[in-house]
Amino acid sequence: MTVIRSVVRSVGAALPKRRMTNADMAALVDTTDDWIVERTGIRARHIAADNELTSDLGAAAAKQALVRAGVDPLDIDLIICATSTPDRTFPATAVRIQHMLGVSKGAAFDIQAVCSGFVYAMTIADSLLRSGQATRALVIGAETFSRILDWTDRSTCVLFGDGAGAVVLEAMPQHGGLSDRGVLSAKIRSDGRYEDLLYVDGGPGSTKTVGHLRMNGREVFRHAVQKISGVMEETLVATGFAADEIDLYIPHQANRRILDGVARKLGVSPDKIVMTLDQHGNTSAASIPLALNVAFEQHRIHEGNLIMMEAMGGGFTWGAVLLRW
Ligand code: UT7
Repeated sequence: MTVIRSVVRSVGAALPKRRMTNADMAALVDTTDDWIVERTGIRARHIAADNELTSDLGAAAAKQALVRAGVDPLDIDLIICATSTPDRTFPATAVRIQHMLGVSKGAAFDIQAVCSGFVYAMTIADSLLRSGQATRALVIGAETFSRILDWTDRSTCVLFGDGAGAVVLEAMPQHGGLSDRGVLSAKIRSDGRYEDLLYVDGGPGSTKTVGHLRMNGREVFRHAVQKISGVMEETLVATGFAADEIDLYIPHQANRRILDGVARKLGVSPDKIVMTLDQHGNTSAASIPLALNVAFEQHRIHEGNLIMMEAMGGGFTWGAVLLRW
C-alpha cells in the first residue's frame, strides 16, 4: 500500500554573531560560570543585534535548508514558523519570511507553543502534507528570547539565547510500514493548569505590553522529566520500537540535568543524545532544529536513521516526533 509520508529533505540554521559567555553574564547579574554550568550545562548563548529580528534569523535558516535540499523557494507551498517572539503581534513572522524568500503562493502562519513549538509545527506540517493540502513545507523554529528576558533576573536571563533552525519537509510516497522514511509518529500535549509556572507577564490583550519571562524553575524541572519521558514512552509503544533502536535523540535544549534524567529513565545511552545547550543556551522553539543542524554538520545523521525529537515548554505544552531520515 502506498502512503504519503513527510520526509525531511534538509536542515539549516542561523545564529546571531554576538556571543555572550557565562563570564559576560556575571558582569551583568550576580552569578558565576560555575553556578550556570553546574545547574544547567550552559556555557554561552548568542544574542541578536537590535536590528536583527526573528524573521531575519528564520529566513537565513530557511535559505540554508533550501540550498542544501536543492529546492527552489518557489516550490514551497507551506511555511510554518514556531515562535513566541514574533517581529510583530501580527502579521505572522512566517508571512514575512515567505515574502523575504520571494514566495507568494500557498500558506504561511506562526504557531505558538513556546519551547514545544517546533514539535507542534512538525506535527501540523506532517498533517497538512499527508492530507494533500501542501507538497513541500518549510518548518522553522525562530526566536529572539533576549527581547523578553528580564536582564536583572539572574534566575532566568542566564538560561536563554537567540537563534533559528529550519527543515524542508516534503510529501513523498512510501510503502506504509515502519521502515518508511519520514514522520512515523507525532504526539502533542498540553495542560493549562501549569500556566503560572512558566509565562510572560504581559501581552497585547492583557497589559498592552510585551512583558518579561517568569519561571518557577524548580517546579518546571520536576514536571519536565516526567512529561517528556511519558510522551517518548507513548511514542515507542505506538510504533513498537525499543528506546535503544532509536539512532539519535534531538531534545529541546533546556537543561543538561533534564536530558540526563530522561536518558536514565528510558535507558538511552548518552552518546545518542545531541546536546548543544552548552553553546546555544535555551533557544525555545529554535533549539531542536539548531541541534539537528549541528548533528547534520557533524555527519551524525545518515539516511534511514531513526530520530526522536522531544520538548516541553510553557503552557505546559509538550510532545515528541519520531521520524526516519
Ligand atoms: O525550556 C522551558 C523549560 N524550562 C526548563 O526546563 C527549566 C527547568 N529548570 C531548571 O533548569 C532549573 O530549575 C534552573 C536552572 C532554572 C534552576 O536550578 P535549580 O537547581 O532548580 O535552582 P533554584 O531555582 O532552586 O535556585 C537555587 C539557588 C537560589 O538561591 P537560594 O534561595 O538557595 O539562596 C537561587 O536564588 O540558586 C540561586 N540562583 C542563582 N545563583 C547564581 C538562581 N539563579 C542563579 C544564578 N546564579 N544565575
